[in-house]
Amino acid sequence: MQLLLLVIGFGTVLAGYVHPEQIHLSWTEEINQMRVTWVTYLNVPAQAAYRPILCGNVPTPSNFTLINGETKKFHEGSHFWEYQHIHTAVFNNLDSNCWYEYKVKNLGVWSKTYMFNGRTPDTNATFRDVNNPFSLVIFGDWGTGPNGQYTKHLLGEETLTRDYLGILHMGDIGYNLDSDDGKVGDTYLNMVESIAATYPYMTLPGNHEKANNFTHYKARFNMPNNGANQGTNYFYSFNLGPAHFIMYNTNPYFDDMNTTADADLETQWIANDLALANKQRDIRPWIITLAHHPLYCSQDWSNEDSIEDCGEQPAVLKPIFEDLFYSNSVDLALQAHVHIYERDAPIYKNETIPSQYDSQNMHINPNAPVYIVGGAAGNRLGTNVPASKTPQPWARFLSNDYGYGRLTVFNKTHMLWEQFSVLQLTEIDYVWIIKDQARYKPVLLN
Ligand SMILES: *[C@@H]1O[C@H](CO)[C@@H](O)[C@H](O)[C@H]1NC(C)=O
Ligand SMILES: *[C@@H]1O[C@H](CO)[C@@H](O)[C@H](O)[C@H]1NC(C)=O
Ligand SMILES: *[C@@H]1O[C@H](CO)[C@@H](O)[C@H](O)[C@H]1NC(C)=O
Ligand SMILES: *[C@@H]1O[C@H](CO)[C@@H](O)[C@H](O)[C@H]1NC(C)=O
Ligand SMILES: *[C@@H]1O[C@H](CO)[C@@H](O)[C@H](O)[C@H]1NC(C)=O
Ligand SMILES: *[C@@H]1O[C@H](CO)[C@@H](O)[C@H](O)[C@H]1NC(C)=O
Ligand SMILES: [Fe+2]
Repeated sequence: MQLLLLVIGFGTVLAGYVHPEQIHLSWTEEINQMRVTWVTYLNVPAQAAYRPILCGNVPTPSNFTLINGETKKFHEGSHFWEYQHIHTAVFNNLDSNCWYEYKVKNLGVWSKTYMFNGRTPDTNATFRDVNNPFSLVIFGDWGTGPNGQYTKHLLGEETLTRDYLGILHMGDIGYNLDSDDGKVGDTYLNMVESIAATYPYMTLPGNHEKANNFTHYKARFNMPNNGANQGTNYFYSFNLGPAHFIMYNTNPYFDDMNTTADADLETQWIANDLALANKQRDIRPWIITLAHHPLYCSQDWSNEDSIEDCGEQPAVLKPIFEDLFYSNSVDLALQAHVHIYERDAPIYKNETIPSQYDSQNMHINPNAPVYIVGGAAGNRLGTNVPASKTPQPWARFLSNDYGYGRLTVFNKTHMLWEQFSVLQLTEIDYVWIIKDQARYKPVLLN
């Protein structure tokens, strides 16, 4: 009996060392690929297996293909024994018509099997589903703890019942990945596994990732490598159907965080990337930027943090990015950091720029980027900040409910942004961005 209890107890302790954990997917810089990243505590070879199970609507019986990946030993904390092994493997030659299932291995033990959609970003014009709508879940500032649980529950239900293409997380991930010798990061990545192992989970760094030169952020995620980012996951772009997405790192533009990245290198890369995207505007008319710190949000003058987040920091970013985005006709600038949801009108130089037609929930042929702050997913630091009592003239909707956004790109002319409250269990805001072919061209600044 005692022996049995001992064996069970030992088994429980070992469980963490047996099952692969923190499984998450991401798109790569290549077409028709999906990368999986996972963690073991034993130093075992990185092995994964995948197979198509449904192509079109036809079941596709096939055996698993076993593949080998790569392993990095990662020192999580301050003690010599706090190592984990971060594995990655790439599923190749995916067919965008197919659903796949996959699993990852730790020594002799396979993880549970997850499914993913073979539709990946396409560096070329031809996206098989160019006329099919696709949706992404988008938010920033999501962590563990009671506040994080709100969004977790709804995301779980939502993502089980809807066909999303991916999840975009605009920084402040887990609060903090490095806290408690990395255990908070481990807990967070296990918390999001059910969705991040099913949908590519694309990240960019917020201020909460900056510890030790973003060590944990760089080690735990694998975002597309574009050469300029040197594999740091700091900034990259990808195309989905008729839309071009740019994910970038706002941290190096602030003095106290200027320790890791070359800000000029990043700015130059963004300018080049925008120029390239603009050359392909006839096939990919939408350009969407995502970053952590906002260029625009309404200040709450009673709150010092808000004065910094919506006043001082935007004052640093605007001279660098505003003309770049405006002159390249960026359609939508998504931001986070402030623990709030705020949707603004098309803005340039602190002014609302009229579209051909504007209403509360629609802009037809906008003439400047629409700015949105989506930092309400559920930070671990405390409750969300109150919505500003002094919304700026360009503010269209504010809420401090926990929640997340959904972007649906219907086609070359129609895009829909929606915000969901996990407190009210309903959609609280939406905006249509609509434009016709004539508006694909960049604006010329004097
Ligand atoms: C799967 O593997 C088994 C055993 O090797 C083999 O008999 C079977 O034909 C394979 N099935 C497919 C669809 O390749
Ligand atoms: C994608 O573009 C590359 C480089 O321009 C080209 O070599 C390749 O054939 C293209 N693939 C498709 C499917 O068009
Ligand atoms: C962070 O990176 C910078 C530049 O590469 C380096 O000078 C600095 O020592 C690094 N800091 C830490 C804590 O590793
Ligand atoms: C931050 O880095 C930029 C170069 O990217 C440099 O010009 C600037 O002086 C740095 N600022 C500080 C406070 O170190
Ligand atoms: C933006 O405009 C509003 C009034 O419309 C003004 O109160 C605010 O100070 C302006 N902000 C900046 C940064 O110029
Ligand atoms: C684009 O999508 C919108 C919204 O679903 C639809 O009303 C419109 O007809 C579509 N346009 C084309 C050309 O399919
Ligand atoms: Fe932040």
